[in-house]
Amino acid sequence: MAFRAILSLLLAAASWGALAQSVPNGMALYQATCNSCHGTPPLGGPELAPNNPALIKAAINGLVPAMSFLRGVYTDAQLADIAAYIASLEAGAGSGPPPAPSPQFDYSDLWYNASESGWGLNLVQHAPSNNVFGVIYTYEAPNRPVWYVIPGGTWTTPNIFTGSIYHVTGSPANVASFKLGDVTQVGSATLAFTDANNASFTYSVNGAQVTKSIQRQPY
Ligand code: HEC
Repeated sequence: MAFRAILSLLLAAASWGALAQSVPNGMALYQATCNSCHGTPPLGGPELAPNNPALIKAAINGLVPAMSFLRGVYTDAQLADIAAYIASLEAGAGSGPPPAPSPQFDYSDLWYNASESGWGLNLVQHAPSNNVFGVIYTYEAPNRPVWYVIPGGTWTTPNIFTGSIYHVTGSPANVASFKLGDVTQVGSATLAFTDANNASFTYSVNGAQVTKSIQRQPY
């Protein structure tokens, strides 16, 4: 703890002060990535970092191995926004941004398009955070299977969820010791649920955007 405290003081002295900060942008980034592990209100680390982007960067760059997949993902300005959002939460009840909407239903399930069997979307909606972890299994050219992850996001209304899409690589399944490879954001996804069982799924991968009707996959 003492080491961390000293380190964060030293790092806080660096030139972060010059960065203009956006609390709404920080909230969007926090909800998209940090919330899946730390929740709202932030616990288990981020609550130590109000207005201290250097501590978040240090956590990502080695202090916290579980966060190393975020290495290089954020600019200093984005980290400053996240730290400003955390500070806004801790500034006192009522002064922060309004709470995120709660989803109308539990949408956890396998989802697909009945006339396009072979690709699909696995959604797991967590409680009490309401955050959603999605896996898209689909194809890339030329007809090769590929999967993408949506490791969290934001409910913008009780029926609309949006988050970033990542392509990940790692060591092959037949190698004993796992080593994470690249984590690359390839686009974003928006799920607009029309009722408990149907949604319009719009997502982009490397600049190409598609919209698909999806429904729960019956068994
Ligand atoms: C994959 C899960 C995961 C994600 C995603 C994640 N963290 Fe963490 N974070 C952890 C764990 C695990 C710890 C260590 C908790 C402990 O030591 O008790 C931690 C600790 C921290 C700490 C404290 C570091 C210290 O020196 O004590 C900060 C600050 C932090 N996280 C901020 C963030 C922010 C901001 C984000 C989003 C950009 C984020 N985390 C995303 C898992 C995660």
